[in-house]
Amino acid sequence: MFRINENYLQLNQSYLFSTIAKKIEAFNTANLESDLIRLGIGDVTLPLSPTVISALHSAVDEMASSNTFRGYGPEQGYDFLRNKIAEIDFRGRGIEISADEIFVSDGSKSDTGNIGDILGEENVVAITNPVYPVYMDSNIMRLGKSSNILLLTCSKENGFIPELPTERVDVVYLCFPNNPTGTVMTKSELAKWVNWALENESLILFDAAYEAYIQDANLPRSIFELENAKRCAIEFRSFSKNAGFTGLRCSYTVVPKELKVRASNGDMVSLHGLWNRRQSTKFNGTPYIVQRAAEAVYSPQGQQETQEMVAYYMQNATVIREGLIGRGLTVFGGEHAPYIWLQCPTGLDSWAFFDLLLEKCHIVGTPGVGFGSAGEGYFRLTAFNTHEKTLEAVERITQWNI
Ligand code: MLT
Repeated sequence: MFRINENYLQLNQSYLFSTIAKKIEAFNTANLESDLIRLGIGDVTLPLSPTVISALHSAVDEMASSNTFRGYGPEQGYDFLRNKIAEIDFRGRGIEISADEIFVSDGSKSDTGNIGDILGEENVVAITNPVYPVYMDSNIMRLGKSSNILLLTCSKENGFIPELPTERVDVVYLCFPNNPTGTVMTKSELAKWVNWALENESLILFDAAYEAYIQDANLPRSIFELENAKRCAIEFRSFSKNAGFTGLRCSYTVVPKELKVRASNGDMVSLHGLWNRRQSTKFNGTPYIVQRAAEAVYSPQGQQETQEMVAYYMQNATVIREGLIGRGLTVFGGEHAPYIWLQCPTGLDSWAFFDLLLEKCHIVGTPGVGFGSAGEGYFRLTAFNTHEKTLEAVERITQWNI
């Protein structure tokens, strides 16, 4: 008899955003769908920018001619895109990352979920609580609900910034600007983690999917701004939230060549080599046309359009943040991130608030407890809807006699 990976039986019955989607479906059968305002999953609403669309059209036309048609591309991504990423996202900001340290992919969800393939099962893995559910679920899939998964509580008391572990930790996931709390780490806070990782020979998996939302030039947009971070960190970046690629799918992961670890046979092994081996075996590359679209994000016009997109969503974040504060709610995030994390009004747990907000205001958000037990009593709203719907949502909440 064949066996299944029984670790899957230890997962919550469905992925957080699938559960919410089912609740929305039920709402829509009973109500007018047009009235619903979605501030739940962090999915963008603005269309792709004109420069990106034009690059996509040209790439599609190339695929129509036998002279320019492309079949399989390099699993790591085309040089035209890797070079631009290295030049603009890193060297342009004084960080030495070379193009061949960049692995283009179809989303940070895939890469943060798959990275465990190259890590030993005996590692103690630390995950913040609350957290983007992919880190937790992908580790449960691999390890089961094991004592090797350690939770780092992020609460109002520590400003939603995890404290350094006092026990052994081999791998830690950090996401800043943070999903779901919208909080940021300063350079000196991040430096503590880098120093800790170097001292303990631990690995930091740094998710920087929301770096474009940072408004203060002194806050780190990449972990590689920190000295020696290339010896202890892998960074994940995405085109989803800055350039609206949630439907198109493109991201990249930086695995520095300096990142090495001693294997049990005593050899020093490069994680870059392992990830390259993993990707070239299990992944056939991001579509050519999508990589051309991502390349267009780096043109001067593309950069300007991207900044405008981010500014648009940040205006929404401000509207939500200020509106909720004005309504007397306790609010975090939303200043350098597209997420607003609020404390549910007294007595309400996260799902009770979710149900009430849906029923009374016809607004969908995300219950904090869906991101982990420490999210209980909190609620996340996203800034990714349109200005009009965001204003309307805040108006409905303001008028609501909670
Ligand atoms: C979220 O809402 O947390 C994100 O949109 C999920 C994702 O990026 O996969």
